Amino acid sequence: MGWFSSDIHTVDDLFVHTLQDIYYAEHQIQKSLPDMVAKASDPELKKGFRAHLAQTKGQIKRLDQAFKKLKMKPEGTKCPAIDGIIEEANDIASEIDDKMVLNAALIAAAQAVEHYEITRYGTLVAWARLLGHADVARLLAATLKEEKATDKKLDGIAKRKINKKALARKKPSPGQIERAEDAILVAAAGIPALG
Ligand SMILES: [Fe+2]
Ligand SMILES: [Fe+2]
Repeated sequence: MGWFSSDIHTVDDLFVHTLQDIYYAEHQIQKSLPDMVAKASDPELKKGFRAHLAQTKGQIKRLDQAFKKLKMKPEGTKCPAIDGIIEEANDIASEIDDKMVLNAALIAAAQAVEHYEITRYGTLVAWARLLGHADVARLLAATLKEEKATDKKLDGIAKRKINKKALARKKPSPGQIERAEDAILVAAAGIPALG
């Protein structure tokens, strides 16, 4: 079902499409969070990502319940927006070698994900109320609250320490870059490094 296909006729259809969109998105987020945990070197950030992974599992369960209340099979529909956010985050992370700068990039990426979720859940809560699905609206509002709290928490960690630590990092000298590149080439060729 696409935005411009003729499958969406009513706000009801639009609501279901958006619910399926966020169902897909939450599953993609669930898949990508362990990687964020592994890449984060700040213990507080690592812990935060781990906690949000557990929370995301609960949010998927809430969506399962929402579909059940609507007497529908839980189902996702491809969401190019979340795929793009995650892909861009992975691309940027792969280009950063400094751990502190990487932590700052991870928070920025995670906040982009949270903001996407906030906009989707905000709309879904409004439409669920409009369509008279008060019980579904309550489930979605509970998740919206969690996403907002996560965003705030990430903002706090970034402002309190991560951004300052990242800012203090200096650009490596050309010699350091050369040595790092040599080490990568040696490792890629399987040659044991000397000295
Ligand atoms: Fe979520
Ligand atoms: Fe989230």
